[in-house]
Amino acid sequence: MTYRKDRSGDPGLADATRGRILFGGDYNPEQWPEETWHEDVRLMREAGVNSVTLGVFSWAKLEPEPGAREFGWLDRLMDLMHTNGVGVVLATPTSSPPPWLGRLHPDTLPRDENGRVEWWGGRQHFSHSSATYRRYAAAIAEDLAARYGGHPALTMWHINNEYCTADHGDEAAAAFRRWLRTRYGTLDALNTAWGTAFWSQGYDSWDGILPPRTPHYMKNPAQVLDFRRFTSDALLECYVAERDIVARHTPHVPVTTNFMPLFFGQDAWRWAEEEDVVSVDLYPDPRDPLGPQHGALIQDLTRSQARGPWMLMEQAAGPVNWRGVNHPKPRGLNRLWSLQAVARGADAVCYFQWRQSRQGAEKFHSGMVPHAGERGRTFQEVKQLGAELAAIGGEVTGRHIGADIAILHDWHAWWAAAQDGRPSAQVDHSAVLHAWHRALWEAHLTADFAHPEHDLAGYRLVVVPQLYTMTDAAIDNLLAYVRTGGVLVSGFLTGVADQDDRVRPGGMDPRLRELFGIHVLHEWWPLDEGETVDCDGFRGTLWSEEIEAEEGVAQSAYQGGELDGLPAVLRRDRAWYVSTLPEPDALRGLLTRIAAGAGVHPVLDGLPDRVEAVRRGDLLFLLNHGREPVTVDVPGAHTDLLTGDKAAERVTLGRYGVAVLRP
Ligand code: GAL
Repeated sequence: MTYRKDRSGDPGLADATRGRILFGGDYNPEQWPEETWHEDVRLMREAGVNSVTLGVFSWAKLEPEPGAREFGWLDRLMDLMHTNGVGVVLATPTSSPPPWLGRLHPDTLPRDENGRVEWWGGRQHFSHSSATYRRYAAAIAEDLAARYGGHPALTMWHINNEYCTADHGDEAAAAFRRWLRTRYGTLDALNTAWGTAFWSQGYDSWDGILPPRTPHYMKNPAQVLDFRRFTSDALLECYVAERDIVARHTPHVPVTTNFMPLFFGQDAWRWAEEEDVVSVDLYPDPRDPLGPQHGALIQDLTRSQARGPWMLMEQAAGPVNWRGVNHPKPRGLNRLWSLQAVARGADAVCYFQWRQSRQGAEKFHSGMVPHAGERGRTFQEVKQLGAELAAIGGEVTGRHIGADIAILHDWHAWWAAAQDGRPSAQVDHSAVLHAWHRALWEAHLTADFAHPEHDLAGYRLVVVPQLYTMTDAAIDNLLAYVRTGGVLVSGFLTGVADQDDRVRPGGMDPRLRELFGIHVLHEWWPLDEGETVDCDGFRGTLWSEEIEAEEGVAQSAYQGGELDGLPAVLRRDRAWYVSTLPEPDALRGLLTRIAAGAGVHPVLDGLPDRVEAVRRGDLLFLLNHGREPVTVDVPGAHTDLLTGDKAAERVTLGRYGVAVLRP
């Protein structure tokens, strides 16, 4: 698969921002009487809203019966937005088909792995493989593009919403078989890739192949892996079909679809290549002490997928309503997390949703305008943020973030690792990724993400938290990177299997074992939840390994227990291997040392805990994630773009305070 498609010539986020930070959110006016729309625009102007996303869930309103078109209300809204200086990100409404589609065409409804239908009455009840669904989706996209392609309010297209559905039904099964034929060509090749000699699974006919529907006992992991690949590709086909329709009408208008944060079901590297604007929805829990770290990870990943500025399509101004307990954002937190996104490359700060609903499943999900109305604290804070973003937009938009570190992540490795029958169900790819990114974040080291087959030459340090499967091309890429002077550090369970989830000789690819100085990998010793293992100078969690290492490569050894004296951390020249997950402080310390050895240093020295520092272009963002004021030493004289104050040498940040410093 080729990544890094040349997108020059296609429209991009800059065509929509035009030097401003986009600020606004999903606007669902169909839930409100028209008088409210006028109230909405008054408040939007007050809050500095310059962008709304219209139409995400409007299919039933636009097409109340098959083939009908009700555009009058949307015409009025598009005009209203335009007259009030608010640009429109216009959505194709295809994520939530009207009830009549499922009623008249049950073939459009997806089925889960037990064959149960996912009915209308919620949302996202469409089968990616249904020809009928695709036909109706294309028709409404076509008519929207024809009608609004020339409207002056239109700034961007938003296709569907958070593509995420799998389907195990018959039409999807047929599409899966077609996908497999393209991938493997022959049944022999498929049988080999899937290892069907195990448990008498050999296929004698393509027709016998099904999506991984619920069997009596564990599923074939290679079949599950391919089904995940197929599902991501089938959804992508839906996106591309609609994108091509709108792009034909408006080649100059950028197109996006919003990702869920680090969503399991989409190969987002592949998807991002098909987007003009990469956008993401981000909802850290305000109570989670690791909320800022999680936010930073998603922001770094999205920026890396976008290869530059990106769009925060959705966040919550206050509480969400889909956690067990839904906490509001304390005063200042919405501003802090919004500016964190800007610091890490966002040129758009948007919300779900503009006005909090009074009915429906999300009526207790916050909006920019809460139930409390314009006097509510949430709206007041939104207003303040809108003014600040307007003030700094011209200085910030379009600027890039330079990172010397790349963290490797691959959805295929995640999919393969996330199956039954593994050495430890405690090991979760996403949690391991978070742990390593957190260590870098806490060390104030800025990192990009990259796909294992990306060109890594621009990075001084490459970090592999875990890549359970790796293609030969990815392994060659890492070897070449180290050979040409790069520093590599890898966590455990890396390079274990190939792209078919076939374990590589020796339990880990021999080329990688040689790279790290692993002579024999005897056994994995996964740890129980909460269990730790002592190593020289730190404690490991989650995992340990019985390794026989080459002479002189052990940097640190296990202490006590069955692995006493065996190497825990290995280093051969520029390649490091960490066979456990060190506790957070230890991992931070280790990565700080390895980074320093690679010539990579924190954004600023001596930063207090909980203060995040990011350089975007020549701007320095300082963000205090703590509730206590802190003082930060900043060499040289600066102007804080948020306050206009000149700062020399020291900056004080209040509770959740932010400074955006220009030298
Ligand atoms: C997103 C979704 C929105 C809304 C929001 C609530 O996942 O795109 O439509 O449901 O979550 O947090």
